[in-house]
Amino acid sequence: MEIRDAVAVVTGGASGIGRATVRELAGRGAQVVVADIHEDRLEEVRVEIEESGGRVLTVRCDVAYDDQVEHLRHEALEEMGRVDIVMNNAGVVAMGPPERMTMEEWDWILQVNVYGVIRGVRAFLPHMLERGSGHIVNTASLAGLFAYAWDSVPYITGKFAVAGFTEALALYARPLGVGVTLVCPGLVDTNLGETARFVGVDDPSTWIKEIQLPAAVAPEEVATRVVDAVAEDRFLVTTAEDHVKERVTQRAADHDRFVADMIGRLPTPPNLHRP
Ligand SMILES: NC(=O)c1ccc[n+]([C@@H]2O[C@H](COP(=O)([O-])OP(=O)(O)OC[C@H]3O[C@@H](n4cnc5c(N)ncnc54)[C@H](O)[C@@H]3O)[C@@H](O)[C@H]2O)c1
Repeated sequence: MEIRDAVAVVTGGASGIGRATVRELAGRGAQVVVADIHEDRLEEVRVEIEESGGRVLTVRCDVAYDDQVEHLRHEALEEMGRVDIVMNNAGVVAMGPPERMTMEEWDWILQVNVYGVIRGVRAFLPHMLERGSGHIVNTASLAGLFAYAWDSVPYITGKFAVAGFTEALALYARPLGVGVTLVCPGLVDTNLGETARFVGVDDPSTWIKEIQLPAAVAPEEVATRVVDAVAEDRFLVTTAEDHVKERVTQRAADHDRFVADMIGRLPTPPNLHRP
């Protein structure tokens, strides 16, 4: 994929990994369509890209709603004429004991983190298949490759879904000319904590435990890897490669042992149902 002059849509593009990827794409000459619900930050991105001489369209779009993603597709095609790259990246975190999570909270996180990605693919894949070219990037997480903690069961659930969806999508879309990339970073220094929800615990600090992951990297590091992967048509983007490789290899070799070892590594969760 030639990045120069490509038209790229990025959801959750006003902050963190999305915003860094928008900058990286624009820096390499792509035209960018930035979608987000955070209107102030969307405006900041618009000004920044325009001031650096890039072409940018911003669209307020909540990926939890069919009609808003449809609107994004319509606006992008109307304004830019075509879409070459779509990065389904918008995401949120919900933490808390899984049995205390209400169905509304489950629905909130899965509507954004899973159905948001599916909506993005449904909206743009037909256009790419018609042209026999394009590239879809879905942001999952290291949380989509293995369960690393007990404090974020809903997040891990959604990210596993995105990883499976994206791997299967690659089998379908790549032979038809559309590239697919799965983004599975470890910790990244972003604003993700701002929108995190804690459910079923009075004091979140009693709930989040040491998660035993390598230190956070800058979003720019992820962005460079993502755009390189699109340019070179590669599937997986990670950070903390050694850590991921070790865990994933161990999990594939002996899944029972992997689960037992992870339990051994983590502190014991509080039992909230015992007086
Ligand atoms: N930060 C990390 O450690 C980390 C690690 C692995 C994966 N991720 C994933 O990376 C992606 C980007 O997160 P980030 O860390 O850059 O966080 P971030 O909060 O800095 O950026 C996420 C952006 O998504 C937007 N957003 C949230 N809900 C939305 C919705 N319903 N519709 C449209 N936009 C919405 C937010 O307004 C925000 O601008 C997420 O999918 C996240 O799960 C993050």
